[in-house]
Amino acid sequence: MGPVCTALTESPPPALSRVASQFEEHLEHRLARLALPEALLEAVQYAMLGGGKRLRPVLLMLSCRAVGGADADALGPAAAIELIHAFSLVHDDLPAMDNDRLRRGRPTLHVHAGEAMAILAGDAMMSLAFELVLESPGALGRGDAGHLVRELSQATTAMIAGQVYDTLGGFPPELSDRERLDLIHHSKTGAIIRAACRMGAICGGAAPDQLRILSRYGEAIGLMFQIVDDVLDVTQTTEHLGKSAGKDQSAGKLTFPGLIGVEASRQEVARLRSAAGGALEPLGEAAWPLRELADYMAMRTR
Ligand code: IPE
Ligand code: IPE
Ligand code: MG
Ligand code: MG
Ligand code: MG
Repeated sequence: MGPVCTALTESPPPALSRVASQFEEHLEHRLARLALPEALLEAVQYAMLGGGKRLRPVLLMLSCRAVGGADADALGPAAAIELIHAFSLVHDDLPAMDNDRLRRGRPTLHVHAGEAMAILAGDAMMSLAFELVLESPGALGRGDAGHLVRELSQATTAMIAGQVYDTLGGFPPELSDRERLDLIHHSKTGAIIRAACRMGAICGGAAPDQLRILSRYGEAIGLMFQIVDDVLDVTQTTEHLGKSAGKDQSAGKLTFPGLIGVEASRQEVARLRSAAGGALEPLGEAAWPLRELADYMAMRTR
């Protein structure tokens, strides 16, 4: 099956892979220093170090760079956002949620370590995130710690609300299916992606207009990202994705391909990709890597 969008390549460009590797190295060392009981540390490491594209930390680091910030100020918050993301996956896969047994090409954490440990490791990942988000000397020095915590906390709450809509419903009254779908996707996935961009900007000491630009970019790629995820669920195989494909329809999920079809979903991806690129224009060359990342996020096949 082809990628969701046309042109370019489906693998991450080398410049982005370098940022991801830099993050990976930081993450591995930082997790090894956590003071946790052995079995809990093993579970957290299993959930955090078993592959994953690292899109949110890379977004955070590139957003920091785009406003002239230093990587040393972004690495801690980047680990924090990946902790929240991986926690959301661990709980998303639980039997009471999506009931998935495969994630990142391996057994899910509850299959590997049991359901109680998966619940507790997810809890710990959430609280650890709020410790690591403070590991940004520049942001702390500028008095921006509270701002970072608020971004992470509001996005995490939005993600959880989105998971409630996705899993249990309970929408505000009188929303059309399309409005419900936008609400689910902006909440369960978009909020964390937008926060990654905003937190990167804050780490880099962004001016208010730079923060607004990166917010707009983050909002567009956040929705785009989940549309691509929905399309891949119906167009790719489990082997290729490393997580179970074809499950959204059988689970009765409200998805873009389910509601508007695969072709119209692809057009929506193209529209959001160009909106994201357009939002970045005022930042000039400094934002080129973010544009490249949006292209890859539209093009990815896993
Ligand atoms: C999967 O996210 C969950 C969604 C929000 C759709 P990713 O596709 O970024 O998962 P990893 O981190 O690469 O495994
Ligand atoms: C998951 O959406 C969103 C979050 C984890 C918050 P999905 O349920 O579609 O993600 P996958 O397809 O299992 O990765
Ligand atoms: Mg889900
Ligand atoms: Mg799922
Ligand atoms: Mg999915």
